Amino acid sequence: MAFDRSVKIAPSILSADFANFGAEIRAIEDQGADWVHVDVMDGHFVPNLTFGPPAVAAFRPHVKTFMDVHLMIAPVDPYIEAYAKAGADMITAHLEAGPHIHRTIQAIKAQGVKAGVSLNPGTPAEAIEYLLDMVDMVLVMTVNPGFGGQKFIHSGIEKTRKIRQMIGDRPIHIQIDGGVTPETAPLVVEAGADVLVAGSAVFKGGSVDNPQVYGENIRAIRAAAEAARTG
Ligand code: DX5
Ligand code: ZN
Repeated sequence: MAFDRSVKIAPSILSADFANFGAEIRAIEDQGADWVHVDVMDGHFVPNLTFGPPAVAAFRPHVKTFMDVHLMIAPVDPYIEAYAKAGADMITAHLEAGPHIHRTIQAIKAQGVKAGVSLNPGTPAEAIEYLLDMVDMVLVMTVNPGFGGQKFIHSGIEKTRKIRQMIGDRPIHIQIDGGVTPETAPLVVEAGADVLVAGSAVFKGGSVDNPQVYGENIRAIRAAAEAARTG
């Protein structure tokens, strides 16, 4: 996939119907999702549990766009190969998940997949300065990771602006995750973000039997975000 900074919407399937992932993935893609965001949680780095590699492998054949796997697990290195083999197009690891984030990014790249580094709300932008020549994406968390449906933390806007400056001309995406809505999306896009994860704001009010609501929700986020680019 060629690099560009157009606004991309990445619904998090953490907010999907857990008994119906294949149909949910098809529904969000049919309704305009650009990427599919998979939140992996271990009950240790974050206080919630979600998907092991077999679950991610089961999602894979349903994803026609780009499968972005957000690992909220510690340790992370022992599981990178398994999530790459499960079919991730990009693997994102948290800087806070261990002492050797540089080694972790090397291990992700060694699997031949794209690599992202994620920052919790309390972690400064400068922490990733020496990773910028290795990564394909920086993920700025705008909630404390672990759950969908939390309130957007506004300090992520200024952090995004700093990271966008640090990136310069490098082909690196900035992804925002947590509390993204039509109200908050323009704030982070104006600051330099291009990939917007949204769980509750995409899935709310819809279902696989009523998927056009997903489309309306995705279009509302995209329109608000794109207005911040042009206006
Ligand atoms: C939080 C996850 C997010 C979450 C976003 O730990 O990484 O991807 O599902 O959910 P909303 O959009 O509901 O804040
Ligand atoms: Zn996420």
